[in-house]
Amino acid sequence: MPTLRHTYNFPTRIEYGPGAMKDLVVIIKREGFKKGLIVTDEGIVKAGIAEILQKEFNSAGIDVVIFSRVKSNPIDANAYDGAKVYKESKSEFVVGLGGGSPIDTAKVVKCLATHDGPLEKYDDAKGGDKYIQNNMPPFYAIPTTAGTGSEVGRSSVITIQSTNKKTIIFSPYLMPTIAVLDPEVTVSLPPGLTAATGVDAFVHNLEAYLMDVFHPFADGIAREGIYRSFKYLPHAVENGNDIAARGEMLMASAMGATAFQKGLGVNHSIAHALGVFYDTHHGLANAAVLVEVMKYNLKSLNVKQKLASLGPLLNTKSDAEAVINAIENWLISLNMPVNLKSFSIPAIDAQRIEDYALEDPCCPLNPRKVEKGDVLKIIQQLL
Ligand SMILES: [Fe+2]
Repeated sequence: MPTLRHTYNFPTRIEYGPGAMKDLVVIIKREGFKKGLIVTDEGIVKAGIAEILQKEFNSAGIDVVIFSRVKSNPIDANAYDGAKVYKESKSEFVVGLGGGSPIDTAKVVKCLATHDGPLEKYDDAKGGDKYIQNNMPPFYAIPTTAGTGSEVGRSSVITIQSTNKKTIIFSPYLMPTIAVLDPEVTVSLPPGLTAATGVDAFVHNLEAYLMDVFHPFADGIAREGIYRSFKYLPHAVENGNDIAARGEMLMASAMGATAFQKGLGVNHSIAHALGVFYDTHHGLANAAVLVEVMKYNLKSLNVKQKLASLGPLLNTKSDAEAVINAIENWLISLNMPVNLKSFSIPAIDAQRIEDYALEDPCCPLNPRKVEKGDVLKIIQQLL
């Protein structure tokens, strides 16, 4: 593959470090904006983070409206509602504040601020990216979790209600103008959610690294992201106020999303199915299927060699099975599920999970070709 043509894109401007969220207000003020929209969710409002940011804007003379009607697995209606508020409030910029759901929704809100619906038109799987123009308002992303890395990504995952499918809206123009990685913003995240979102970041780095795509830049970033999340997530879970560990996890999360421009694999396809059918938290879903999916992918010699090469980063032998064991023990130590036994999924549902996963856009990129019946076997092992 080194002999083929490739196009690479690397992340947006990143403002990293404690205090970066407050500094963003200064940056926006310098741009001369007077009105803006904060897209967030109810959890962030309850945690008081949206209000802190709103007050910061107000003291700088900038009027901001908070839109918080975003579901944990966001739907198109959330984006339509947010775009309506954006237009009615005559906002000049969008801030996405929260985990992946508010930031992904904010990306679509900024798109709908200057693009007509319906959202189906922009479905990446149907070539919808060609309709997305570079005429959208400035967009600032502030993650409050370290997981999706949506703040450095060019895509948004949103469920379109008419099809009940998680749909990818993609365009380089969806990339945030600035990504704000402020570890102080993530300290209030409870241990369970810290672990689940952090595992998502780990899986992004891992699936991206294992992918058979020639992308040495992304591979280097992914290996560093694997190392950082494996090492620092237990510290962030153990002590939520550990600013250094929180910062490392924000970096690992942004690295994961940077690396997964290579693509993701069947682990995410199954996690997407579990999210759509059972509203399972995306990080928990990824954790629950990870060990079995790694074992499944071992049939690929490339995967076997790459997993083995991770040994020294995970404090274990340079051996694929040892690496899988280390990852399984790590998940257990973080109180993460390593099967689907606690999810109350009826055995009869295994088929519809497979049907969904095989149609998922991540599936064809898996390093081992996924055939009919393969996902079924993985699910049956886990139930
Ligand atoms: Fe993910």
